[in-house]
Amino acid sequence: MWGNLSKFTPLFLLLALSGLILLLRNIHTLEKFNCQTVSALHQLQTKLDSAFRAALPLPLDRNKTYCGLLGPDLTANEAAEERHLLDSIAWPEPRLSAVPLRQSSDPSRSFFVVLSSGGELRVGGQLEALVHMHDFQGQPKRHGGDFLLARLASPELRAGVAGHVVDHQNGFYSVHFLLPWAGPAQVEVTLVHPSEAVQVLRRLREERPDRVFFKSLFRSGYFSETTVCNLCLPGHQPLCNYTDRHTGEPWFCYKPKLLGCESRINHAKGGYQKRLLTNQEALFFQNDVNIKVPIQASGSARVIVLPERKEKPEAEKRKNTDAVFRPSGFYYQDAWQAFGGLPVRQFNDTTAIIECLQGKVVHMFGDSTVRQWFEYLNAFVPDLKEFNLRSPKNVGPFLAVDSEHNILLKYRCHGPPIRFSTVAASELRYVANELEGLPGGRDTVVVVTVWSHFSTFPVEVYIRRLRNIRRAVVRLLDRAPDTLVLIRTANLQALDPEVSLYNSDWFSLQLDAVLRAMFRGLPVVMVDAWEMTLAHWLPHALHPPPIIVKNMIDVFLSHVCPKRRS
Ligand SMILES: *[C@@H]1O[C@H](CO)[C@@H](O)[C@H](O)[C@H]1NC(C)=O
Ligand SMILES: *[C@@H]1O[C@H](CO)[C@@H](O)[C@H](O)[C@H]1NC(C)=O
Ligand SMILES: *[C@@H]1O[C@H](CO)[C@@H](O)[C@H](O)[C@H]1NC(C)=O
Repeated sequence: MWGNLSKFTPLFLLLALSGLILLLRNIHTLEKFNCQTVSALHQLQTKLDSAFRAALPLPLDRNKTYCGLLGPDLTANEAAEERHLLDSIAWPEPRLSAVPLRQSSDPSRSFFVVLSSGGELRVGGQLEALVHMHDFQGQPKRHGGDFLLARLASPELRAGVAGHVVDHQNGFYSVHFLLPWAGPAQVEVTLVHPSEAVQVLRRLREERPDRVFFKSLFRSGYFSETTVCNLCLPGHQPLCNYTDRHTGEPWFCYKPKLLGCESRINHAKGGYQKRLLTNQEALFFQNDVNIKVPIQASGSARVIVLPERKEKPEAEKRKNTDAVFRPSGFYYQDAWQAFGGLPVRQFNDTTAIIECLQGKVVHMFGDSTVRQWFEYLNAFVPDLKEFNLRSPKNVGPFLAVDSEHNILLKYRCHGPPIRFSTVAASELRYVANELEGLPGGRDTVVVVTVWSHFSTFPVEVYIRRLRNIRRAVVRLLDRAPDTLVLIRTANLQALDPEVSLYNSDWFSLQLDAVLRAMFRGLPVVMVDAWEMTLAHWLPHALHPPPIIVKNMIDVFLSHVCPKRRS
């Protein structure tokens, strides 16, 4: 073909020359025209950009719950389930409003006592502690609603287990532990937020679903515009409606001034709204004062647990099966062990991992906390080679293969709301729709992790998302019952006054309770990231440290390849 072109070369030269002459003759007018056009375009673009900036602080009508009510109508069953779920996570709400700081819960003036039941403590038995909350004036609190976390730990054994907190709604809280190991153990209780702060968080969740906002770039030809996007947008400006056809998941952007809705190029986190609190409310969110501050013991917090008795008396056996709280596992020597269920194997070397994953396709869907699993495996197993899809860093999609052992590992982020840097519009997919596209089978493993990006919205939004995912999981398991589906739960994270307002563990706790309830009874495996971060001695982090990820991978792989019982 190129050979044929060569005979036209003289013609091209002639054309080019005449074009040049024409250009030189008109250069003056052309220059003027160009300058005007370019500057007009530039002015327009600047106007559009500043329109975007001006549109940023969105005044929301405080009296409307925008986001929760959007989306397709619920069936009677769905509505009943939603009511039940919301009731089940109802948080005690003190009747008092506008409490001054001095009357709010103060961890430094509160204390707990470890209750000795008289008998000796043995592995498999229980331990209870009683927490008594006080305010900054040292007065006992008379209502509940504080958000407490508790764990039983042994630094010398690098052991830990989550405790279960019961709010008596009178200023007292019981903490229950199951005793998993013999040896020393100490009770640790932390005030995450006083009830007064939880009330503020609840208000933000209902009234300010815009406190994290999103944006999309629209582009066509010379023009580009950026507008604000969210699950729901206030005001009467024209909108682009990106509601998903299959799931009915709503998503909107303000319509660009000049461009059509179809010219959306990407999706990105816009930013965080500031000045969400009154000065009074801000006092309930102070580092080292009332955010994640330990509560001290009155008396000793330490106990010694004796080994399990060989012959258990009948009464004790019964007591254990009625345990008020059964954690999903505990750490011993930094290794997670499951209570009941499959024993956790340790996958310390790459050979064991490859042997386990041989012939498998692993699909990981969700937020960055499951991307950590992909990253861990990809980094730890040299035979797994990441295939360069030229995806943006931290966003994906990502793919790793070991063609020798026929292993395929994939990661894709969940659909909006997602606070990732920039996701191409063409890569915005809902997990439910992705699941519909999987044939499934005994060599297919699916991991779903969706929680963190929903913390700024009313719980109904998360329920709707999980309902769609659950429906797709049920269909997948119907057509291919051998498919292994795992769900990684929410985890604890580091909180400060700012992070608390968008990502508090209190939001995560509520979402996590909904997640567990909605998948209860289905043949899916829960990887209890909540307890695995609560029970560990390392500080909480949105992205848990490698040792905790390693333990999650151990749990994950233990379900992919359970130990054969001999
Ligand atoms: C919200 O609406 C209710 C009833 O529509 C009204 O009684 C209440 O005063 C309103 N609150 C605010 C803060 O506007
Ligand atoms: C958005 O589109 C969906 C269908 O695609 C429709 O059901 C919904 O009412 C629309 N929402 C708005 C606010 O226009
Ligand atoms: C894995 O490593 C841990 C810590 O080094 C060790 O205690 C454990 O025995 C190892 N497990 C296996 C199966 O190799």
